[in-house]
Amino acid sequence: MAESKASLSIEGKELIELPVLSGSAGNDVIDIRALGSSGYFTHDPGFMATSSCESQITFIDGGKGILQHRGYAIDDLAKKADYLEVCYILLNGDAPTKAQYDEFSKIITNHTMVHQKLVYFFQGFLPNAHPMAMICGVVGALSSFYHSDLDINDPKQRMRSAHRLIAKMPTIAAMAYKYSIGQPFIYPRNDLTYAENFLHMMFSVPAEEYKMSPIVAKAMDRIFILHADHEQNASTSTVRLAGSSGANPYACIAAGAASLWGPAHGGANEACLNMLEEIGTVDNIPEYIAKAKDKNDPFRLMGFGHRVYKNFDPRATVMRETCHDVLKELKINDPLLDIAMELERIALEDEYFVSKKLYPNVDFYSGIILKAIGIPTSMFTVIFAMARTVGWVSHWDEMMSQPGQKIGRPRQLYTGEINREFVPLKDR
Ligand code: SDX
Repeated sequence: MAESKASLSIEGKELIELPVLSGSAGNDVIDIRALGSSGYFTHDPGFMATSSCESQITFIDGGKGILQHRGYAIDDLAKKADYLEVCYILLNGDAPTKAQYDEFSKIITNHTMVHQKLVYFFQGFLPNAHPMAMICGVVGALSSFYHSDLDINDPKQRMRSAHRLIAKMPTIAAMAYKYSIGQPFIYPRNDLTYAENFLHMMFSVPAEEYKMSPIVAKAMDRIFILHADHEQNASTSTVRLAGSSGANPYACIAAGAASLWGPAHGGANEACLNMLEEIGTVDNIPEYIAKAKDKNDPFRLMGFGHRVYKNFDPRATVMRETCHDVLKELKINDPLLDIAMELERIALEDEYFVSKKLYPNVDFYSGIILKAIGIPTSMFTVIFAMARTVGWVSHWDEMMSQPGQKIGRPRQLYTGEINREFVPLKDR
């Protein structure tokens, strides 16, 4: 990385000179690791302008609406690859040969079953438990099945953990759905693709097989691709921080799922559909646009805005096309899509959204497609978590393989009480 220098002065007095590092694309960074010795820390709640690591997995240019995985553009991958191929690329760095793809696909397929004891973890949940609560609990429980003989410093064992998680998440996700509707769990099948297998485990019943629609399976696979990874988002940063202490990778992925669940992050697809249902009709849109603009109203347009994209989210563009394909194929005339399209039209013309560069993000259209496929709103974030698992494990593996990897331990600006005398209760 080419190096230039940044010098930091305080009130005209030079404090320190710091190296400026350049990557292969994107912003240069000021390497502040030496700053601590000067008696100062940087302060950046929410990490608005902080690079937390060096990575070679995903590149985003928010201003240009660019998203690339290992250098491959997301719209190319969404249209020319399948999800398992994208998983291979994220984990290994390059597109697989046919032989490598077939071997990888076989490995993943042969890890889709879960230990039969894992089934019992579901029994403790109330019937109305949110499926994401089940994901956090059951994925965390996986760490009890793979721990004592797991050496995370061995690249081969890290890759096997990655394969197990990618393979088992659809099985666990479908189990959470089946548990919530009181139907028996459906075992995976080795003769189906990744997306077909998930739909099979979600919608088959012992009495009859689910009738697979190739268009729905393709749309499901594309949704997985569009959610696979996204650089250092909140849940991926959570996995990296949890993993930096050497924690069990299955527990780290459960931590990532917990972070993703929030409505400001992966929970936005569920919140977006609930919002469209609350808006109810196109006529009510102006009232909700006004609420979104009102500083005193906590309401925000779910599915709009992004920390990085200040242009269209390239995933939303592909998702929008897929949304229309699925609704056309399934001959669904969903009034929620009418509301969504009118909301998008108005928001993209409204000065407030234009000036703040608030565009529809990946969550805006995914909810409508998932609803059209017959997936309940409560499962939307579960699908996001399932698809994002490959991103989480890829970043975890990259972090663990980096020489000199340190435990993450941010500092703070302390503004609390100091040096107070403690008076025992009896004297107070
Ligand atoms: C994902 O990081 C990732 O990559 C995430 C993700 C991934 O793949 O991992 O892309 C997935 O999480 C997509 C985002 C899904 N979340 C939502 O759709 C929820 C609605 N969006 C917002 O909550 C918000 O836009 C965030 C959280 C996504 C981004 O928030 P930021 O970057 O912290 O920006 P901000 O909250 O400071 O907003 C800037 C301004 C504010 O107004 P001012 O204080 O400057 O006057 O824009 C306003 C906000 O009030 N604003 C919105 C808005 N989003 C931001 N106003 C109305 N509706 C919105 N949706």
